[in-house]
Amino acid sequence: MKAIIPAAGLGTRFLPATKAVPKELLPVQGLPVIQHVVEEALAVEGVDGVVIVNSHDKPAIEDYFAKNGELEELLRSRNKEDLAAGVEHATSLPVSFVYQDEPLGLGHAVLQAAPAMNGEPFLVLLGDYFVPDHEMCRRMKEVSDAHNGASVIAVGVVPADEVSRYGIIGGKCVSGGDPEAPGAVWLVGNMVEKPAPEDAPSHLFIVGRYLLSPRVMELLATQGPGAGGEVQLTDAMLRLLDEEEMYAIVVDVDEGRDTGTPAAWAGVAARTALEDPSTRAEFLEALGAAADLIR
Ligand code: UTP
Repeated sequence: MKAIIPAAGLGTRFLPATKAVPKELLPVQGLPVIQHVVEEALAVEGVDGVVIVNSHDKPAIEDYFAKNGELEELLRSRNKEDLAAGVEHATSLPVSFVYQDEPLGLGHAVLQAAPAMNGEPFLVLLGDYFVPDHEMCRRMKEVSDAHNGASVIAVGVVPADEVSRYGIIGGKCVSGGDPEAPGAVWLVGNMVEKPAPEDAPSHLFIVGRYLLSPRVMELLATQGPGAGGEVQLTDAMLRLLDEEEMYAIVVDVDEGRDTGTPAAWAGVAARTALEDPSTRAEFLEALGAAADLIR
């Protein structure tokens, strides 16, 4: 099975920085966000390759994963074996590229990877969001395996007054117990993009991890533009609901790290530096007086 990582967006919320540096390459603990996502995808049993959907305007992403023997040699000649190994590791990952040269939406980005999927189910992991413990997709796969290979998406609980910022699912909980507790499984009956609070069918939003049936690629091929004039992945998934079952698993939103805005990225970088014992003390020192601001 392959995993698709869409990374061809404009990153407007990080302009002007994203004029030259893709937001997917912003570092968290020395690794670009997209490498955290690639490693997460490859940790899922059965995933043997990652297809990054890139734009020709963002060649730095491809450069990052390309072999640089000269740099490795230079580092080794200076006895910096650890650094050389890190550089080499990133370039040895099974990553390939397809291109979306106009950001026409997430659905359109995913469709560009269709020829590489070989008609098999596939994962989609957004390129600006990662899950450090790599567990989310593994649990999604378990739910899929338990339901004849059905599509499965991850959903998290959002406060009622914030539903209008997200894609919200409707349906029924099929696992028993608290339907909003992590681990609860839903049979999806509906999906609504950015609903008004009174129209929201639940408080469960789609968090950016999808395990999808190959039929979604066929539906995307005929999917017209939707909200915002973009080809929406959720519109094709909605059409899939007429033909196939789809499940959702509730996850703890604290499992994932969203780096899609400057504040969110800064928070993730800070949190990760604090959580890592090898950087915590130096990070607090670097914060200086601002360390007192951390409650
Ligand atoms: P976002 O909406 O967060 O990314 O999409 P964006 O559009 O680049 O950011 P803003 O809104 O302008 O600030 C989530 C992921 O999907 C990719 C993005 O690169 C990002 O990693 N994406 C989005 C595509 O590959 N193509 C698209 O048409 C849209």
